[in-house]
Amino acid sequence: MRARIVSCSVASFPCFFFLLVLFFSCSASQEQQVVGHGYDLRSVGVDPSGKTLTAELGLIQETSVYGADIPKLGLLASFETNDRLRVRITDSDHERWEIPQHIIPREPQASLRSMLEADRSQSPPENHVLSSSDSDVVFTLHGTSPFTFTVSRRSTGDILFDTLPTVVFKDSYLETSSSLPADRASIYGLGEHTKKSLKLVPDDTFTLWNSDIPASIPDLNLYGSHPFYIDVRSSSPDTTYPPGITHGVLLLNSNGMDVIYGGSYITYKVIGGVLDFYFFAGPSPLSVMDQYTELIGRPAPMPYWSLGFHQCKYGYKNVFELEEVVGGYAKASIPLEVMWTDIDYMDAFKDFTLDPINFPADRMNEFVDKLHENGQKYVVIIDPGISVNYTYDTFVRGMEQDVFLKRGGSNYLGNVWPGPVYFPDFLNPAAAKFWAQEIDIFRKTLPVDGLWVDMNEISNFITSPPLNSLDDPPYSINNAGVRRPINTKTVPASATHYGNVSEYNAHNLYGFLESRATHDGLIGSTGKRPFVLSRSTFVGSGKYAAHWTGDNVATWEDLGYSIPSILNSGLFGIPMVGADICGFGGDTTEELCRRWIQLGAFYPFSRDHSAIMTSPQELYVWDSVALSARKVLGLRYRLLPHIYTLMYEAHVKGAPIARPVFFSFPEDATTYNISTQFLIGAGVMVSPVLKPGAVEVDAYFPKGKWFNLFNYSQSVTSNSGQYVTLDAPQDAINVHVGGGSVLAMQGEALTTQSARQSPFELLVVLDEDGTAAGEVFLDDGETVEMAGEESEWSLVRFSAETEGKGPKLRSQVVNGAYASKHRLVLNKVVILGMELKETSKVSVKSLGAGNTSEATVAHQKNGRFSVVEIKSLSLLMGEEFELQIEVEA
Ligand code: NOJ
Repeated sequence: MRARIVSCSVASFPCFFFLLVLFFSCSASQEQQVVGHGYDLRSVGVDPSGKTLTAELGLIQETSVYGADIPKLGLLASFETNDRLRVRITDSDHERWEIPQHIIPREPQASLRSMLEADRSQSPPENHVLSSSDSDVVFTLHGTSPFTFTVSRRSTGDILFDTLPTVVFKDSYLETSSSLPADRASIYGLGEHTKKSLKLVPDDTFTLWNSDIPASIPDLNLYGSHPFYIDVRSSSPDTTYPPGITHGVLLLNSNGMDVIYGGSYITYKVIGGVLDFYFFAGPSPLSVMDQYTELIGRPAPMPYWSLGFHQCKYGYKNVFELEEVVGGYAKASIPLEVMWTDIDYMDAFKDFTLDPINFPADRMNEFVDKLHENGQKYVVIIDPGISVNYTYDTFVRGMEQDVFLKRGGSNYLGNVWPGPVYFPDFLNPAAAKFWAQEIDIFRKTLPVDGLWVDMNEISNFITSPPLNSLDDPPYSINNAGVRRPINTKTVPASATHYGNVSEYNAHNLYGFLESRATHDGLIGSTGKRPFVLSRSTFVGSGKYAAHWTGDNVATWEDLGYSIPSILNSGLFGIPMVGADICGFGGDTTEELCRRWIQLGAFYPFSRDHSAIMTSPQELYVWDSVALSARKVLGLRYRLLPHIYTLMYEAHVKGAPIARPVFFSFPEDATTYNISTQFLIGAGVMVSPVLKPGAVEVDAYFPKGKWFNLFNYSQSVTSNSGQYVTLDAPQDAINVHVGGGSVLAMQGEALTTQSARQSPFELLVVLDEDGTAAGEVFLDDGETVEMAGEESEWSLVRFSAETEGKGPKLRSQVVNGAYASKHRLVLNKVVILGMELKETSKVSVKSLGAGNTSEATVAHQKNGRFSVVEIKSLSLLMGEEFELQIEVEA
């Protein structure tokens, strides 16, 4: 393991102790190699629809380690949709732990046993193919001894997944591998881990076991578990299809695991559950995200305000300090949307209480009322551990309702910030109800707007001694990079949840379940769209929560890591994500903080946060940081209608807000290796400075025309994809928009509320063919459902085409209800990418509804392209319009 010095002021996880544990656990059991003898195919059946295949598998020979092998397995392969193939292998004779349906609803499946009995018709050995003309993936069960299976792509013949015959299936150890074409597979995902490179690099082990390990340490298991990857295939001399065809693979399993990526293979070593694979056909990265989130849950819509800028710190001492910080932002004219408070506000670290001396209820209410009057919001932290204290009402109610996690029949006693704690068992519906009640009671004391759920891996300051074999499974996953026991600093695996579910099986689900309970509780209490930020996540968490990347440190390395981390979260279906801007642990510097806000202004979730005892890093602390912050947050706020539309696209199609560059350019294999730039949506590219002292940045530009969003006259034309060295003076970041986009924008302001009062403008960026397209989604930003049947919203599409005299821009109103009711007005259109002469005359006329009589048109040439500005339009967003731009030479 590569050890990095982590700041020991990082108080969520006592670092010194952490390093000590790592040191002593180096002697922990080393990984043993198991080579399974595999299973024979005994019988096969295909249902009459041809969409489901079942097979019975029999053990060939016992293997000697990790316990007894399960003698008979059942395999079920089915096309659940045209784009989704499921392959599930489990014990034919006994039910095993599987993620409950209420967590991730799946296709109902008759018990394997009954299906096997009903369908057994064909006899092996031979190959059995499951294919459907509607689907591009084909499943083939190879009746060799031992059996194997492949998943291939019909249209190209490419083999996507190709299992080795060495399947191992024991009670506490499952192993399976697939070959991969090392030269053509680019793999992304398998988190949560801090990595320098977005593209996974062999040979690497990805351990999944939710842990409170600082995100500043690369390569270790962190707060969340996502056994999902996407595989982007390059072409090769012997393939005839284009590069960039993408598929996704999920192993739906909540148990601890190591996933070993070796370039030419991937191996899963899992300590429980079943082998439940889902293959998503793609063929584009975006279609994989659509198919993936269709299964795991669409990302939650976030309130509009949450796209503003957030300020937090662990260690704000009292309400006066909170007021000072809010005042500091106002004085410096830097947008501040949301003020946060960490555990400092609580009375003795007890959830749902206020420190009566430093954060008294009356003063806090004045403070929050004032924020609300200014159009600002307030968010506080809560932790899962409930202080064991009979004078504490929340605890007493929790005891009365019997909602806490058990071990050996009694409530399990952990230890976190308040000292001894019990943890609500969110698998218990009574616990979710209790949590909702506590949220509501607290919100009656202080009307907070959102909640931040931390420490929910579950983080525990103690390690309890083992009680039974669950605490010490035969195979040690590579926990913390040193195969430390899975119980270390968390709730022990032998603890029991509601329904007699072991923590061993449900461990990785805790953060998900707490997020869901908090999400539902907030809806119940506010009646509005909830905002929940969760540290721990699992497959599907995006349906309930936003995420931040956890405890980074104020270093240049961590600034760089933040890009792969936020992009991965998008791949996991959690598009609302950011890293702690300016760094959490350690003291930041003026230069680092300036570069960090330049980048962080373009994280989907943009929050400055730092650890207790670190030096102040609010954006107004240094004049140069404040200057940069005004500039970059200014652009962010102008882009809010676009970013909010991306939130809508995330919610309906799972499209990440921040995307890897290859998402829009899968045919360009150079983009597969980019870890230092990213896209916002399809066409806005962020190319930050990530090194101290640098005033230039080498940025890759995929083919096309690119325009600097801070200065439309600066452009890059890339004929076939090229690196360009860009100026990046200390106060600037490069953000470009590519040809082909139409971005909806509004004016700059200090809050999203006032930005939303300003008229709309469209930035139309023509591509080489003179075309562009985009859309805008509009609603009140806080109705629980986004684009729901009951709610009022608008979706307007824009497209531009160039023929004859010049570009024609038209809008298509898919739903005009919200825009019409609020008479939202478009008053400016800027067109980039036209090649005009300085002397050209440009005019605009309306071809239908929409008044252009007051419109003024101006253009300015700089280099090859002109910036054409049409001002004083008064077009209604809710009504369709068509504008013809006419150019006379
Ligand atoms: C750990 C979290 O990661 C961090 O953001 C927070 O400040 C501390 N806990 C204190 O609550």
